[in-house]
Amino acid sequence: MHRLIIKTSAVAFFASIALVTTSCENHSNPPPVVVPEPDPDPEPVPDPDPIPVVNPGDPRADLTTEELATFNRGRAMFVKRFKPSEGLGPLYNATSCSSCHSKPVPGGASELYRNFYVASWGFPPFVFNLPGLPSPVVPAFGSTINAPFSLQNGRTIIPEMIATVPVASDQRNGIPVFGTGLFELISDATILANADPDDADGDGISGRANNDGAGLGRFGSKAQANNIELFTRAPLFNQMGISSNPVQGSAGTVSFGHGALMQGSATPNAPTADNDGVPDPEISTQDLSDLIAFSRFLAQPQKKVFNNAATRGEQTFAQIGCTACHIPSLESSKGPVEAFTDLLIHNMGSELAGQVSFGTPQVSSIDPVTTEAEWRTAPLWGVSNIAPYLHDGRAPTLLDAILMHGGEGEASRVAFQALSPVEQEDILEFLRHL
Ligand code: HEC
Ligand code: HEC
Repeated sequence: MHRLIIKTSAVAFFASIALVTTSCENHSNPPPVVVPEPDPDPEPVPDPDPIPVVNPGDPRADLTTEELATFNRGRAMFVKRFKPSEGLGPLYNATSCSSCHSKPVPGGASELYRNFYVASWGFPPFVFNLPGLPSPVVPAFGSTINAPFSLQNGRTIIPEMIATVPVASDQRNGIPVFGTGLFELISDATILANADPDDADGDGISGRANNDGAGLGRFGSKAQANNIELFTRAPLFNQMGISSNPVQGSAGTVSFGHGALMQGSATPNAPTADNDGVPDPEISTQDLSDLIAFSRFLAQPQKKVFNNAATRGEQTFAQIGCTACHIPSLESSKGPVEAFTDLLIHNMGSELAGQVSFGTPQVSSIDPVTTEAEWRTAPLWGVSNIAPYLHDGRAPTLLDAILMHGGEGEASRVAFQALSPVEQEDILEFLRHL
């Protein structure tokens, strides 16, 4: 509140100066303007409740000294470029976590050129990540399907058919990790309270929880992972070829090995191993724990002070049903998590459907057999910093992202299109302030 008052008085002060200047220039017609003398040395009013500024990449404010030290060591691991002698490869898409999480700072999102493919070999329905079996995770540049870099051959092309059997693939664009550690602290019950898999209330929205992995999913564009450890060991192995042993593990799947074809991604819950000549595990428990702590302890994005348009936009956002999925706040053991997501997956229609489903297909009222069109409600905190948008980065702007909503999101998209240009701009302005 005090900030606003200070700003207002500053504006009044400048307005008075402007008035004085104008009256001095106006010699011919001088009605004397009485301007109150500005206080030559105003006492700064101390803000009784200052909002500390949180920059992207900062640690959470509630960390202990020890946790902060772990976070700082983890940051060094996150930006570390692994070398072949340290276990990079044999196949890899990137040499560091921050290769893909760099925008605007380490921990952030990635440009389109960092996209990678998740691919599945077989016949429809294509399923990624069948428990215990390897599924390739390969990088994507342009329109061709590329194999990962290899230490021997650099980048090679893999066919769209292998032995007359098709390869299906989807792209993924890097998403930020700011605040995502808090998703671990939201209880299953809180998430499930918003699920409506059979659309019992008939509102056309049937979000469901993803239980395909071990535990109720929260992370990734399909909410396919339940914890940060999994979402650290999986990219370490799939994207960088760095093998590791579980720290706490998340139980569940049993490894059948990743196979000779490619580095598999099936079982990062189990110890991972590769054959690049560097003894496994290629990262120590200490370094891995630090790396997990970095993602876990990154502070959530801070809202900007709303202007009138953003305030109006927030109301319209709720009125047209965006908050049915982008729930403003979920309760956690550390208080409200204002991420504008329900952490559920929704069928977003043919507009956003991919080719590859994730995990075991589950029955949902809208699409009984597949998860190809189902996506986790993208958290909207910090959204203005992380273009391009949607799971594969196909939407260059916030407006494009909204206009591509289909399936369960169609009604609110249609409602958005029916708004006046000013109301639409208000919503965009609101999003820019998150
Ligand atoms: C080749 C690019 C790439 C690299 C390298 C990479 N990531 Fe990611 N990361 C992504 C993408 C893309 C996603 C979204 C995945 C999805 O769509 O399911 C993601 C998602 C995540 C998430 C989940 C965030 C959320 O809100 O659900 C975490 C945590 C994460 N990455 C951590 C890491 C760590 C730690 C490393 C290094 C070991 C790493 N990433 C390396 C591309 C990458
Ligand atoms: C049925 C649930 C649902 C509703 C209703 C909904 N969204 Fe979404 N929204 C999603 C999902 C799921 C995604 C992620 C889709 C993807 O990754 O392909 C998303 C993504 C977005 C994104 C892109 C974020 C990013 O980081 O990529 C924006 C912006 C957005 N929604 C805004 C809106 C607005 C504005 C409305 C109301 C007009 C709305 N959404 C209504 C489910 C919904």
